[in-house]
Amino acid sequence: MPRFNHARIERSTSLLFILTFMIISIGGLVEIVPLFKVESTVTPVDGVRPYTPLEQLGRNIYTREGCYACHSQMIRPFRDEVERYGHYSIAAESMYDHPFLWGSKRTGPDLARVGLKYSNEWQVAHLVDPRSVVPVSIMPAYGDLLDRDIDPTVAGDHLSALRKVGVPYSQEMIARAEADLRAQATGQDADALRARYPGARIGDYDGQPDRITEMDAVVAYLQVLGTMVDFSDVRLETGIGAGIAGSSVEAGR
Ligand code: HEC
Repeated sequence: MPRFNHARIERSTSLLFILTFMIISIGGLVEIVPLFKVESTVTPVDGVRPYTPLEQLGRNIYTREGCYACHSQMIRPFRDEVERYGHYSIAAESMYDHPFLWGSKRTGPDLARVGLKYSNEWQVAHLVDPRSVVPVSIMPAYGDLLDRDIDPTVAGDHLSALRKVGVPYSQEMIARAEADLRAQATGQDADALRARYPGARIGDYDGQPDRITEMDAVVAYLQVLGTMVDFSDVRLETGIGAGIAGSSVEAGR
């Protein structure tokens, strides 16, 4: 055993500090350095695509209205959550979310998989007057969304800002953002939109075919939540710590 001069180290505060710092840094480096080597810490999963311009503007309105203050968007891998909401959320599902809206408070239910759970008509009726469809609801009404038109010309700017933080919008998607937004909300000339955003759902969301309102955008966003990944052939083991790494979806199916 080599002899360390412990007494000297323990009597000198600065030496003790420097040596302690060096020892602790090793742990930090071991954790941090490999992260610079990997391209992404998120395993890509089939089906996950950037939001369409209409969905993205809906997401902006969702953020503006503070829906995340009452609704989380993250299903945790516990039996009670999975039985209520569906497959637990996986990292790839929010890889294009800036800012993320996972939330930490559930005054209302988790919305990570609310897409296609209800019809567009239900979503509109619920946002206009929650009590009309859920009598005991304490959710505020958002009828104003029906009255405010959105400005499709800003869509390209939003996409281009997201591209700067790493969302893979192509130059074509940015250039065609306004047209894609109109196509999704009206259903006209939607083939190009479908090619750019596989699985995008088209149509008049708010029941006012001659206008594109904030309601169209918010409902388009709600209807896509949790629907990009196909979990139908995933056998779920539920329970604490169940197969988080083992699911075939995680393996990049
Ligand atoms: C003050 C808290 C609160 C805010 C803010 C809020 N909600 Fe809710 N929300 C609730 C509650 C409580 C429920 C459950 C009762 C009901 O269905 O109305 C709910 C239910 C929902 C549901 C139905 C979920 C399901 O699975 O049945 C949707 C969709 C929804 N909210 C969307 C929104 C959107 C979009 C916004 C923002 C524009 C929003 N909420 C803002 C409290 C809130």
